[in-house]
Amino acid sequence: MEWKKKMTVMAAMLAGAGVMAGCGDEAAGGGEEEVYTLQAGHSLPVDHPYHIAFQEMADDIEERTDGRVIIEVFANSEIGAERELIEGLTLGTVDLAVSSTAPITSFVPELEVLDVPFLFESRDAAVEVLNGEIGDDLAAQMEEQGIILLSWGENGYRHVTNSVHPIESPEDLEGLKIRTQENEIHLAAFEALGAQPTPMAWTEALTALQQGVVDAQENPAIVADQFNLYEANQKFMTLTGHVYSVAAYLLSQQTYEELPEDLREIVVEEGMEAGERQRELIIEMEAESLKNLKEQGMEIIEEVDIAPFQEAVQPVYDQIEHVELLNRIKEAQQ
Ligand code: PAF
Repeated sequence: MEWKKKMTVMAAMLAGAGVMAGCGDEAAGGGEEEVYTLQAGHSLPVDHPYHIAFQEMADDIEERTDGRVIIEVFANSEIGAERELIEGLTLGTVDLAVSSTAPITSFVPELEVLDVPFLFESRDAAVEVLNGEIGDDLAAQMEEQGIILLSWGENGYRHVTNSVHPIESPEDLEGLKIRTQENEIHLAAFEALGAQPTPMAWTEALTALQQGVVDAQENPAIVADQFNLYEANQKFMTLTGHVYSVAAYLLSQQTYEELPEDLREIVVEEGMEAGERQRELIIEMEAESLKNLKEQGMEIIEEVDIAPFQEAVQPVYDQIEHVELLNRIKEAQQ
């Protein structure tokens, strides 16, 4: 489908989304109760933890509400790429989404701090920060934009892949055309590393890699594996782990308000479980993806001296607007 037409179809789908209430048979009482059909979207395939945890959440909600809440989970950016999904949540045209935090920053600027390179000491440290006061404060900022945080999940550690040569030091990134997420911090980080970053949605990235419009991209191993990036000229992957990419399960405030109280409680309770489940799955699947990438002929550069990369991205820290928040995250890890 040609791009413009595809966008029009997508816009129409988004406009038609939102809570759809219909009448269903009430099993127990014989009367009729309203059935709420919600649309949930994300950008990854159905065997990715984003989807598996979302589907489990949908199944549990359907069971607990006796079929009064049905959640249709759309994978592969079918109802919008991440930025479009987030916008849809703010407008109430998308009910639920799971997204990495980078594109959410366009709507909730405070989230910029989560995508600062080499910010978290470890996965556990990140989870502690997110599930604590700082995470709650960020959730409050999202709520001001009409987005309810259900739970924090993860996309995983981001690593650089490319078609040109093994990357062992920042010098190897010099002049490399790299697709980044639509996020100022990612852009600044790769500029500081000497690369030529081009921000674009994931929906455009694959074609850009295939056609050689960009040489490189950065994403967790599972994404590289599930999208067969080795078939899109990506011969090398360096385990830079430069960003612990946080993800979030989100609900539109508008959808929340349209649901009766008993149902919204169940949706929120189940949504609170999704992030942890999703994170567990990422941890389980990561090693398998790396193995598969190797088997498919990708050269994985595992022993990387991270210090020069950390040093090179220092200018990014000066660009952060929410310095106090950033300092709180650093202090929380000391
Ligand atoms: O690179 C991205 O845009 C994101 O990491 C992705 C693949 C959409 C998953 O959140």
